[in-house]
Amino acid sequence: MSTTPEHRAPSALSPATVVVTAGRPDREQGGHVNPSVPMNSTYVSRGVITPGELSYARGDNDAWHPFEAALVALECGDGGAAGGDGGTADGDGGAAGSDGGADGGTARGEGIVFGSGMAAIAAVFSLVPDGGTIVLPRHAYQAGMVLADQIRDRHGVTLRHVDIADTDAVVAALDGADLLLAESPTNPMLEVADLPAVLAAARERGVRSVVDNTFATPLGQRPLEHGADIVLHSVTKYLAGHSDVVLGALVTRDAALAATLREHRTLHGAIAGPFEVWLALRGLRTLALRFERAQANAAELARRLAEHPEVAEVRHPSLPGDPGHERAKAQMNGFGAILGVRPAPRPGVAGSAGVAGSAGSAGSAGSAGSAGSAESAGSAGSAGSAGSVGAAGSAGSAGSAEAADSAGTGADAVERADAVVDAVRLWLPATSLGGVESMLERRRRWGTEAATVPEDLLRLSVGIEDVEDLWADLDQALRS
Ligand SMILES: Cc1ncc(COP(=O)(O)O)c(C=O)c1O
Repeated sequence: MSTTPEHRAPSALSPATVVVTAGRPDREQGGHVNPSVPMNSTYVSRGVITPGELSYARGDNDAWHPFEAALVALECGDGGAAGGDGGTADGDGGAAGSDGGADGGTARGEGIVFGSGMAAIAAVFSLVPDGGTIVLPRHAYQAGMVLADQIRDRHGVTLRHVDIADTDAVVAALDGADLLLAESPTNPMLEVADLPAVLAAARERGVRSVVDNTFATPLGQRPLEHGADIVLHSVTKYLAGHSDVVLGALVTRDAALAATLREHRTLHGAIAGPFEVWLALRGLRTLALRFERAQANAAELARRLAEHPEVAEVRHPSLPGDPGHERAKAQMNGFGAILGVRPAPRPGVAGSAGVAGSAGSAGSAGSAGSAGSAESAGSAGSAGSAGSVGAAGSAGSAGSAEAADSAGTGADAVERADAVVDAVRLWLPATSLGGVESMLERRRRWGTEAATVPEDLLRLSVGIEDVEDLWADLDQALRS
């Protein structure tokens, strides 16, 4: 069954190769080149279960192993189990201990796939004791923030919201905390954290750290190398890449932590289906190509949009004037493929009504349609989350903060942004991101989005289409 050394690929492979090679079956004559989709709820099993033994598919499931092994290979950056035996990985039955597994096992890290990114976030929050403290970004994926609010309310947990790009503020908030949840770049404001600095500060203070790496992907940055304890993904996005599955994952090098997180997955039943995981691995095969193209498209669109007469503000770390530019250049490979865009007010229209303003952001609570919606938090109780953000106005736009602040908070600006979404023909008006297809939405349409996110901010997830087609459609929508 095992791969002979001469048939193994070299160990120090580029991530662009690892996405293709990791998690494949052993190279047997006549064997499969892809993992199968094993459909089992249970496994033949007698007597006492030993670590690593498959027994019940909620605790551990061989359908997860190839994808988990591939994630470990990518996030731990050691070339992984490339060359054909990465699929055996690290199952421990989801409860105590770990088998120190062969490929994808504890020697270098463990991957834990979940039924969604939110399930992974919930597992991470479960590490915080009642009455504990979480440091988290004031702008971050909103359902995660709403869940944090609920944990605060139900478990007496203190939340310290910080501007994740403000290193001093993050470090100051860490004393006595139990968990730092960082996102970089943030959703949807694209703030870039100084990951090496904040993760080192967390480690020095004994604060466990988690980085949501959904926007950057392991090809864009590897937070474990910067000192994170756990990396989190909404696999739904770039890793799977085709807007056809919802999945999440965690990766950690800490075997005891991995066992705790697996136990949470088992006991909460936050598990992924075999076919979804298979699709994610299939999607991962093209991640390098997809992400390279999407990033190039995004940078080109950002450059053009920054000069567009109908645009007030563009956020993308690729822009030299963006507050996150230098930091992203230093710690990322590329700048990601999400843009923030605020349409320019129309002369004599935008801002004239004086409706709302950021105070009116309370209105966010009212935003009908957010409840139960897919990528939105799906909870009306977000006011606390928004209200807790505090420091408004620190958005720090790419060189046009004033223009941006005066625009985009009134009803007209919202209408203007909504009109752009209505006018696109190629771009998909939809929530989510990271698929091959370009999408956009006005984030504050969700009542759960933070009140310091401008009401007219459009989040653009740039896909892999021809950039000229994307540009032509955006340009006509902005001018319409
Ligand atoms: C940055 C980020 N993290 C986590 C999630 C949650 O992932 P999922 O929708 O797979 O539950 C999302 C979803 O949009 C996200 O954007």
